[in-house]
Amino acid sequence: MTDRSGYRFETRQIHAGYEPDAEGAVVPPIYNSVTYAYESPSEGISEHRYTRLSNPTRTALDRRIADLAGGQYGRTFASGMAAINTVFTACLSSGDHVVAGENLYAESHTLLTRVFSSFGVEVTFVDATDLTAIGDAIRPETALVYLETPSNPLLTITDISGVVDRCAAAESDPVVAVDNTFASPYLQRPLELGADIVVESLTKYVAGHSDVMAGALVTDDQDIAEKVDVIAYNQGATLSPYDCFLVFRGAKTLAGRMQTHCENAMAIAEFLADHAAVSQVYYPGLADHPNHDVATAQMHDFGGMVSLELDASLEETSQIVTNTELFELAESLGAVESLIEQPAPMTHRTLSAEELEAAGIPTSLVRLSVGIEHHDDLIADLDQAIERVLG
Ligand SMILES: Cc1ncc(COP(=O)(O)O)c(C=O)c1O
Repeated sequence: MTDRSGYRFETRQIHAGYEPDAEGAVVPPIYNSVTYAYESPSEGISEHRYTRLSNPTRTALDRRIADLAGGQYGRTFASGMAAINTVFTACLSSGDHVVAGENLYAESHTLLTRVFSSFGVEVTFVDATDLTAIGDAIRPETALVYLETPSNPLLTITDISGVVDRCAAAESDPVVAVDNTFASPYLQRPLELGADIVVESLTKYVAGHSDVMAGALVTDDQDIAEKVDVIAYNQGATLSPYDCFLVFRGAKTLAGRMQTHCENAMAIAEFLADHAAVSQVYYPGLADHPNHDVATAQMHDFGGMVSLELDASLEETSQIVTNTELFELAESLGAVESLIEQPAPMTHRTLSAEELEAAGIPTSLVRLSVGIEHHDDLIADLDQAIERVLG
């Protein structure tokens, strides 16, 4: 296969990891065959034996995803959570300790506190914008430092290479894994900043059209990749060939979509920052965001997610998010259409009141996944939705 590594991201998103096959198919065919013929009991006709372990459509996607993340071993899963679960399973065993950012996707938080805790894994949640707090939380038995940057839903930014340095200096030298879902590999590549594993919900920006669930992890560490293969094969949450095809198709336009997401999000963040009914805007692209400098240094641009706090009650906030006409009131993020949601009663409802407070999520918080429509139309939509409730 031609080495595409010298090409820029925009070129690799279309060409990396796949070349026309023996039939000349320019797009990887969907191989529905579950099983692959052997030449003899000890020799397969191809590298594939059984689809749960490997499948030609998935191999093409795994290679492309690895290339875009700047890593060697890419593996795709049936959802982002399946990929995250695989990271935790590969890195943790009974008696281990995890240091995790306190502002995590709710299900990642729940997986650690309600599932892995029952297998004897202990977790300390820290303010992941504070490198000293992360360094101080690392113990001799810390096996994993798990981060999400930008974080969901408060858009906090963690200095990835700063964390990598702290971990390398610690006796336990924990694995550093980063959930890169909010950034996508176009905006941020944690492996290039020294992380050991990058994990991502491909359901969001990479696939980009709200029509497929998928997840991936990428690493340069062969030992981790081998453990991941054992887990993937035996737990069985690998991505189906048809879903691989959909992710493959969506990923070809990632760079162009991300550029529009970023431009629109910046325009909306600036509009909201000047709005009388908005008490706070969370967007790392704004100069007054507390981690703006770190974001500028480690991201190519600031992404399509914007959160805001309204001067409004829980009920008024719920009415406002129901009033938008273009922004669909729905969970998820990262697709071409704009979405709006209220984290406390929606995406983060599995967190208790105390956990919400500890994570700094107020009931009047609204999260926007800014799509690629025209930003003037999106701004007008938000303006009318707020006006109808707060006047
Ligand atoms: C930051 C983050 N990580 C992981 C996930 C889980 O991804 P999936 O829904 O594909 O399982 C999500 C889902 O919203 C997310 O926002």
